[in-house]
Amino acid sequence: MSSRSKSTAAITRLILKAAEDARKETGDEPDSFVVSRVEWPVPCTVGPGLEGAIACESKVGFVNGSRGRLSYRGYDIFDLSANSTYEEVAYLLLHGHLPTTGQLERFSRKLNDYLAIPQTIRTLASFPIEEMHTMAAVRLGTNLLRREWTTLDLESGRPDTSRAIGSDEDSIAMETLPRGEERAIYEFKGDKRDDEVLDSCSRLISGLAALTAAVARLGKGRLPISPRPDLSHAGNFLYMMTGETPTAEQERIMDIALILHADHGMNASTFASLVVASTLSDIYSSVSAGIGALTGPLHGGANEQVVLMLREIGTPANVKDWCEKTLSRRGGRIMGVGHRVYKAYDPRARVLAPVAKYLARKNAAVKPLYGVAVRLEKEAVSRLGTKGIFPNVDFFSGMVYSGIGIPDNMFTPIFAVSRVAGWTARIHEYLQNNRIFRPRAMYSGPVGREYEPIAQRDKAASEQAASASSSSDK
Ligand code: CMC
Repeated sequence: MSSRSKSTAAITRLILKAAEDARKETGDEPDSFVVSRVEWPVPCTVGPGLEGAIACESKVGFVNGSRGRLSYRGYDIFDLSANSTYEEVAYLLLHGHLPTTGQLERFSRKLNDYLAIPQTIRTLASFPIEEMHTMAAVRLGTNLLRREWTTLDLESGRPDTSRAIGSDEDSIAMETLPRGEERAIYEFKGDKRDDEVLDSCSRLISGLAALTAAVARLGKGRLPISPRPDLSHAGNFLYMMTGETPTAEQERIMDIALILHADHGMNASTFASLVVASTLSDIYSSVSAGIGALTGPLHGGANEQVVLMLREIGTPANVKDWCEKTLSRRGGRIMGVGHRVYKAYDPRARVLAPVAKYLARKNAAVKPLYGVAVRLEKEAVSRLGTKGIFPNVDFFSGMVYSGIGIPDNMFTPIFAVSRVAGWTARIHEYLQNNRIFRPRAMYSGPVGREYEPIAQRDKAASEQAASASSSSDK
């Protein structure tokens, strides 16, 4: 065993142990309501925020929330994070199967080539990146990337919408079975062959890594760095961000984090990107919508919030009081716990928890954060566990990133650098049988109001103001 792989073998053992514990607790069989064919129209109970609604059928992956399990194309996330690499996982998500050596080599080379986006980076550098939120800068870069790689803006690149099925029936419940187009027409580059479409997905996967690394550097007034052909995707991403060759351990931890975040069912950002793609917009706008959704503190933005929260708490001794205060506040939330789908321990947190502990032993920045986190986890679970609230992936991810030298404002962009594989895989899949998204809203406002001329409204407003001031004088 080389010294490089020896130093990462300890981390792999930690993941295998987490997997063993999870399997003992939850078993291996997924629940049937998570994995079955959809017969349209599908009967389901829908809650606010479309909770419970089935938006589409997918073969990309699933989350089994009640068991705390996650799978990509049928492969358990524990096995993938212990044994695989981000390149292999991205290939798996896009193509549906694990690659052979030749396929992986070609795909990895392509990802490496596509990390070089000098035109986009040059344009990006002309914006005041240091004044922007890092996610806004990555979103901007994604749109600039579109200019570098798509010909959609040319007449010849426009989608053929003649067979597209629209849906804008505002007020009728679904009364026809959904019909998909035979093949949605959308354009990324040149003609619309499948390999070219997948090629555009690869360009976005590498593009987001290169953009995020450049944003990290430009934000600090440093020049972006070109990729190196000898490094892995995770290694290059770290190198292009920090300017230093990562250690084997840092590279492996980054790789694990990228694997863990690559896909996650019909989450808000994936749904946002599918909604945009379903209009036959282009994949760059679709990914950009995903980035916008991921920015929020209830979704991808939680990882940064967790570290801020742990620092604010300061020491384990403050945890109890802090929880008391936070939870007694209306809407007060502990960041990094709870999940719309997981009502058991998030498997990604199961993997990252021991990695955080491992880093805490040797890293002075992680140690105090980890100490507070362990105490907070206990407190949160004892107070909220009966509601199915446990740590989610973000509870530990920020700490882990801190441990490998990444600044707080890059945590959420890293989520996007990984999730772009899931977004593009699902967009590619959805558009094979596209139907524009169009849920309904139930109107609960007034009806049948009579239009009042503006003079009448002014008169009513001044009468109202006069009566308010006379009653306040009393
Ligand atoms: N802290 C305190 N109470 C909570 C929390 C929390 N983090 N999460 C949920 N609850 C309570 C909530 O107050 C409610 O209580 P009650 O029934 O008494 O009113 C109950 O649990 C159900 O909450 P909910 O808002 O209906 O749950 P949800 O499924 O809509 O919310 C969530 C999911 C992720 C938005 C929420 O748990 C949350 O805000 N967590 C903190 C933010 C966070 O960590 N987000 C990252 C999610 S994982 C990464 C990703 O996929 O993006």
